[in-house]
Amino acid sequence: MKLRGRDVVSITDLSREELDELFRTARLMEERPSDYYGSLKGRILAVLFFEPSTRTRLSFEAAMKRLGGDVVGFSSVEGTSLMKGESFEDTVRTVEGYCDAMVIRHPAEGAAARAAELVEVPVINGGDGAREHPTQAMVDLYTIWRLRGSIDGVKVALLADLQHARTVNSLVLALSMYRDVKLLLATPGLRLRSEVYEEAVKRGVKVEEVGLKEAVKEAEVLYVTRVQRERLKSEEEYLRLKDAYRLDPSILKEARGDLIILHPLPRREELPIEVDSFKAAKYFQQAHLGVPVRMALLYEVMRGV
Ligand code: NCD
Repeated sequence: MKLRGRDVVSITDLSREELDELFRTARLMEERPSDYYGSLKGRILAVLFFEPSTRTRLSFEAAMKRLGGDVVGFSSVEGTSLMKGESFEDTVRTVEGYCDAMVIRHPAEGAAARAAELVEVPVINGGDGAREHPTQAMVDLYTIWRLRGSIDGVKVALLADLQHARTVNSLVLALSMYRDVKLLLATPGLRLRSEVYEEAVKRGVKVEEVGLKEAVKEAEVLYVTRVQRERLKSEEEYLRLKDAYRLDPSILKEARGDLIILHPLPRREELPIEVDSFKAAKYFQQAHLGVPVRMALLYEVMRGV
């Protein structure tokens, strides 16, 4: 694979063939992680998180350590010189000298792209504002592939905050690389960005806007998202929308027998804990698969850099 030394800012930085190959590597790493222990020994990954994170940061760190590599970084700007007024640019340029690759999460759209312009080491986008979260889309696709056997032909319903969820943008663009994909969009007014919608249609995805019940009834994969309180215009809007698309267990009676429920997590009101006991609930498995997927990505990007 030719991922060595490359930046991953958008999911579209990888082709379908590269994604499929990455998933085959992830599968090997999931089955026999010990075969890969030590393969990144002596390498250092920097994790620069300017926004909160549990899964993305910890699964990157776990992945790096499973490969025998090391991690430096921060999980919030407190404790860094950003508190003294140092710029993002100077921070990134400095850290470049301490690592072989970096993962960046930042509230500003385009932050990872900006870093990639500034430094020579590979930059992996761990989420840039409401724009993209490519490695989450890799985990989402990998989970679908593992549970369903293929991604081609899948019917995915995207629920709730499609306007601010960066995971949704990356997932839609990722699914667009596959054949015969159908997307059902169900949102209480937080609609998918037009440029992402148009790109999906251009690449041959069938897109339909539906209500919550219809989405649950038709979908093979229900991708639930949290209403992103921190990115809404007002608290009022949040209070009005937070429960609007709640996935109540009673609605799930209408669902297909082979339904898969995914959520990038963290969850709030939209996904009640009563759903956890359903056979369809796969979101914790999805979170756990973040490790082999990120192991595969780090291995391919960092080997030999
Ligand atoms: C998401 C994120 O940060 O974009 N979480 C994740 O990385 N798994 C989802 C969210 O914050 O709602």
